[in-house]
Amino acid sequence: MGGKESTEKKAARPRVVVVNGPNLGRLGVRQPDVYGHQDLAELTRLCSVWGERLGLDVEVRQTDDEAVMVGWMHKAVDEGTAVVMNPAAFTHYSYALADAAHMVGDAGLPLMEVHISNPASRDEFRKRSVISPVATGTITGMGFFGYRLALESVAHLLAV
Ligand code: DQA
Repeated sequence: MGGKESTEKKAARPRVVVVNGPNLGRLGVRQPDVYGHQDLAELTRLCSVWGERLGLDVEVRQTDDEAVMVGWMHKAVDEGTAVVMNPAAFTHYSYALADAAHMVGDAGLPLMEVHISNPASRDEFRKRSVISPVATGTITGMGFFGYRLALESVAHLLAV
């Protein structure tokens, strides 16, 4: 009952890709005092729940590979997909990722930068983000909840 209608409704949902950079596959075991005890699977589950509530079709990905992350930005541009990005350490030095993120903005697509911790309160090298200048907005220091705020921001920007 309502199968066709619900499929159509799902197809009409704006797509958002939530991309996570290097070492975020180690959430839960990596510095739990900084990043918490929940793992990437839990983050993925939460993002799906939040996306569902917001009317967004959310897909969560993680890679340790800069080229893969750049490729995902190209794909987002080609497919008109909004981006939530935790660039992890790439944040601080990847001009390749910054250029790719710039293209997402040029395509008129939201790109929200998220950090679980507050990099500004940590090591000196974390204080600079090469992604922030090309992001629509940045959310830091809110733990996994920051992804929820980023998804809400995307929904707001897309007027879902
Ligand atoms: C991080 C902060 C970065 O400085 C760090 O390299 C990460 C995670 C965060 O989510 O707080 O890997 O992006």
